[in-house]
Amino acid sequence: MAISHQNHPETLAIHAGQRFDPSTGSIVTPIHQTAAFQFEDARHAEGIFLLKDLKEGQHGNVYSRMSNPTVSQFEERISALEGGIGSVSFASGMAAVASSILNICRVGDNIVASRNLYGGVSNLFQNIFADFGIECRFVDHNDPENFRKQVDANTRLFWGETLPNPLLNVFPIGEVAKIADELGLPLFIDNTCATPALCRPFEHGAHVVVHSATKYICGHGTTIGGVVVDSGNFDWAAHGERLPMMMREDPSMHGLKWAEKFGKMGYLVKLRVTQLRDMGASLAPMNAFLLTNGLETLHLRMEKHCENASKVARFLANHPKVNFVKYPQLSDGNTKRWADAYMGGKYGGMVGVDVKGAMKGGQTVTENLKLFYHVANIGDVRSMAIHPASTTHSQIPSEMRAKAGITDGYVRLCIGTEHADDLIADLDQALSKISV
Ligand SMILES: Cc1ncc(COP(=O)(O)O)c(C=O)c1O
Repeated sequence: MAISHQNHPETLAIHAGQRFDPSTGSIVTPIHQTAAFQFEDARHAEGIFLLKDLKEGQHGNVYSRMSNPTVSQFEERISALEGGIGSVSFASGMAAVASSILNICRVGDNIVASRNLYGGVSNLFQNIFADFGIECRFVDHNDPENFRKQVDANTRLFWGETLPNPLLNVFPIGEVAKIADELGLPLFIDNTCATPALCRPFEHGAHVVVHSATKYICGHGTTIGGVVVDSGNFDWAAHGERLPMMMREDPSMHGLKWAEKFGKMGYLVKLRVTQLRDMGASLAPMNAFLLTNGLETLHLRMEKHCENASKVARFLANHPKVNFVKYPQLSDGNTKRWADAYMGGKYGGMVGVDVKGAMKGGQTVTENLKLFYHVANIGDVRSMAIHPASTTHSQIPSEMRAKAGITDGYVRLCIGTEHADDLIADLDQALSKISV
């Protein structure tokens, strides 16, 4: 199959990494449901263990904790779609997020992250990493200079989400990337909610992209997975002083220095070897197969998610039971400007709505929706709704929640690919049940 990274994304989504199986003629890459792989001979086995056989950052296959051909296909495809030099996949988005950071941070280090993050990631950064001795300094990304202000000699990376969930205030990728470049730090972007169909963060200067593949990449709510992609634009060796874990002699691998030995691939090789080999949160081949299938229709689905979400947002904005709507297309100021700059005139599949009746009003809507599933997930072909104040954010005091923009009547809608008129009719009948 003649496929190159010059092909259009829609083409890469179907062909990149595809492995035709000559022994059976199967055009779909088989699910290699095996734990281990046979060595050709003793020299081959020895070479693999010494990482001699590295092709584009892929470890020769030894054991499916580190690599597997079905998983490699998924990794090649997502890295082609993001425009990266390679990727390493994980058992979940959370595992990908945690490993991407633990690969270059240790006790005493700190990271600077946007305050607007998925709740699970905020908790990891604030509480779990604190127990590891890694501090997270949260900043308001509305002023990109806030990132610079928090940096000191132990800062190892910047972190943001392209389209933060649930507030949808788009991250200034280019502005923060510029500051990161000036300081010699890598900018990591969680691109889960935008996906490479709407935004390719590397084109705007980001250095590493992380995904929860569970969401739009999968698209059908069947699979948990995550992935980390490296752009190849960050010179890990040149920044060895800033990122000592990339240049120190690593006792876990014969004392080698990752960035010196593997150059641009150093971060990914280390991620595979030290995080997958030693921490072991590996993506299962069956799950990689399902995620690759999901990628094949990503662009089609995202088109429809965005079209439907825009119709729903405009309907809600004029509804008498609605206080306000959050959707990048309907916002002004930075969010609209950065959405236009980084998401190519598309605004994503999620809509936030603050309804009349505060807490009771929000719960009335989620209870009365008939087509929308009432679940704590996003990025599915099915439409889904949740009331953060009484579920995902219920542990945060009401006043603090409101300050963070999550009011008591706020409902997060994740708009699926059904017909928009059916979704609007369902929302209209649910809103009519609010008694104020
Ligand atoms: C933006 C974002 N990043 C990371 C995650 C974690 O991913 P997972 O649920 O696959 O572990 C999520 C999950 O909702 C998310 O929304």
